Amino acid sequence: MTAPDIRNEFAGRVAVVTGGGSGIGRAIAVRYAAAGGTVAVVGRREEPLLETARLVEEAGGKGEALMCDVRDAIAVEALIDGVVERHRRIDALVNNAAGNFVVPGEKLSANGWKAVVDIVLNGSFYGTRAAGKHMLAAGSGTILNTIATYAWHGHPGTVHSAAAKAGVVAMTRTLAVEWAARGVRLNCIAPGPTETEGAGAALWPDENARARVLSSVPVGRFTNPDEVAESAAYLLSDRSVYVTGETLVVDGGQWLGKAIYTDPRNEG
Ligand code: HXC
Repeated sequence: MTAPDIRNEFAGRVAVVTGGGSGIGRAIAVRYAAAGGTVAVVGRREEPLLETARLVEEAGGKGEALMCDVRDAIAVEALIDGVVERHRRIDALVNNAAGNFVVPGEKLSANGWKAVVDIVLNGSFYGTRAAGKHMLAAGSGTILNTIATYAWHGHPGTVHSAAAKAGVVAMTRTLAVEWAARGVRLNCIAPGPTETEGAGAALWPDENARARVLSSVPVGRFTNPDEVAESAAYLLSDRSVYVTGETLVVDGGQWLGKAIYTDPRNEG
């Protein structure tokens, strides 16, 4: 068996990446382009989207910046239909747009709950439904959803996000089975603590918080958007052709690493 040549594995292919204006979404878009793909990056603010589209072109792909709020089902469908009309295909959808803030459950308003569930769960379904229609007609396509491991272990302060992401996992598994025989795969990626401007400011705002997060990661460092994008590229490519309904955790062992009893790493 020879190893596949992956340098141009996305040549001639088209991806849509939501939340593509920054962080992990931007890195996935650029990584897809670096292997020859065309990427439509989606978000609410034009300026960062244009910058991602520029980086996509710089990486060797074709890029376009599309403004859309993923909470608007009609706008999402029109956006995906437009991509297919212009490029004649859609090979990949990355539901990466997210909304989050840390808040104790009893202080979370109904509207705050709704805002996050609308973006994360409903937005992911709207995109999946719209792209899935074209992928099923073509008999091929892959959908990747960005989640977090607290979808299954929970985490204080994230009831809205954890519940929404758990819903995304259930959606992924359900449709993976429904659509498997028709050539469409769905998977999730669960990044751990990733050095992005947004995450850093919200999740480890000062040195103490940063040290605390760092001490929870067995590999002993944060990850970065490029490392996450590398795992995403695998799930978006034909290299993972038999993988569907799965979650790839890219967290340096963080969620497994909670020492409750004596920890032999601290001895001798
Ligand atoms: C309590 C808050 C709040 C806060 C907003 N709300 N921020 N409540 N604490 N910090 C409440 C508001 O009071 C309001 O409820 C409701 O939420 C909606 O707020 P709006 O600002 O009107 O909504 P909107 O402009 O639509 O913004 C949506 C958002 C926002 C989710 C609140 O944060 C957003 O758009 N974020 C997008 C970017 C983002 O968060 N990315 C992070 C992804 S990172 P009331 O009742 O007052 O009307 C991520 C990392 C996971 O997910 C971690 C992995 C380890």
